[in-house]
Amino acid sequence: MQRILRHTLIFAIVSITSFTAPVSAFTHNTRESSSRSSNLNSEKVQQRQLASSQRGVCGTEEPTTQLKDAHKRLSLREYRHAEGSIDGNASRATADSLPRIEVDTWFHVVSTSEKVGLVTNTMIASQFLYLQQAYQNSSIHYNLIGVDRSINDTWARNGDSAAMKRTLRKGSYSALNVYFQTDLEVSDASGASSRRNGHHHHHIQNLDKRDVLSSQNLLGFCTLPNPEITSSSSIDDYFNDGCNILASTMPGGSIEHYNRGGTTVHEVGHWHGLLHTFQDQTCAPGANGDYISDTPQQSVPTEGCPASKDSCSDLPGMDAIWNFMDYSSDDCYRSFTVEQASRMRSMWATMREGK
Ligand SMILES: *[C@@H]1O[C@H](CO)[C@@H](O)[C@H](O)[C@H]1NC(C)=O
Ligand SMILES: *[C@@H]1O[C@H](CO)[C@@H](O)[C@H](O)[C@H]1NC(C)=O
Ligand SMILES: *[C@@H]1O[C@H](CO)[C@@H](O)[C@H](O)[C@H]1NC(C)=O
Ligand SMILES: [Zn+2]
Repeated sequence: MQRILRHTLIFAIVSITSFTAPVSAFTHNTRESSSRSSNLNSEKVQQRQLASSQRGVCGTEEPTTQLKDAHKRLSLREYRHAEGSIDGNASRATADSLPRIEVDTWFHVVSTSEKVGLVTNTMIASQFLYLQQAYQNSSIHYNLIGVDRSINDTWARNGDSAAMKRTLRKGSYSALNVYFQTDLEVSDASGASSRRNGHHHHHIQNLDKRDVLSSQNLLGFCTLPNPEITSSSSIDDYFNDGCNILASTMPGGSIEHYNRGGTTVHEVGHWHGLLHTFQDQTCAPGANGDYISDTPQQSVPTEGCPASKDSCSDLPGMDAIWNFMDYSSDDCYRSFTVEQASRMRSMWATMREGK
């Protein structure tokens, strides 16, 4: 267990109801990883304007065969909990009926020297609160153990993901590490693949990543759980584990309609093993999709926040546009389903707990 917090302010947030930590509690550590010499990106202040109708790219990688197999196994086991509600949400799986899962959590704010003031302590506090609330009905609770800040132009654009994570990552495999980067791009080492809105899948291995992705709007990505990690795995096997989030998606950030913190909630859903509600983008009967039976099959990611949408009209259920694992704008995001909550919980038990 790697729990050395030498430079990190430690504080515990007891529960969401007692979340009264004053903003000043988020005092940052001042171990500034400044790299003023390498102004690799200083002239080009990247504008990441999103058309208000489009969620940018979630760069979370495609699930491996092992993870899909785990979904299949777990879905059989959870079947009895599903209760057959096609438009179900997690509200019935309340905190009272489920033992609480506690996730040790670290936030790492990584800025260019130019954007040091971009992420305020208020934004950090609001983001954490929204994360906590979004998972409350799943009885998954985040203990924010530390917030640290680094200034490093290379890291801020994810230019050396391995060095950044080896330096900043805290805790064991069961610990959630979120890197809020002011200029997030996909780097070679990030392991992320790109998924564009709409019907196009670009597997960027075949493309010039930088060119393709700088023209898109990468909002974030997480590592999915890796079934191969065990309690005896070393940090070398999982230092990459965690979530990379474009900092301007935090509450109060600059991206209109995508600045309520929904991106972090969505991405952390991937960290817990969830796939997109439109996974595989097909209406083919019997397709596995996201392996969740109470999210109706969906063939097209949602853009913006339409009143309703039904991409597989011959199949039961309207698209779950309010679901955190769709691509809807933050205004639309509302909840996870009962079965998504159970899946995250069983993924936790099999993939991360005690590791
Ligand atoms: C900034 O990142 C670069 C690239 O990973 C690294 O070599 C350098 O040590 C970092 N600077 C600090 C102060 O951590
Ligand atoms: C979830 O279920 C609760 C209780 O049944 C209901 O009040 C709420 O509107 C539902 N939310 C969504 C997004 O369907
Ligand atoms: C949690 O459940 C309550 C009902 O018990 C519901 O009103 C609320 O929308 C749910 N919140 C989320 C984030 O699922
Ligand atoms: Zn995603």
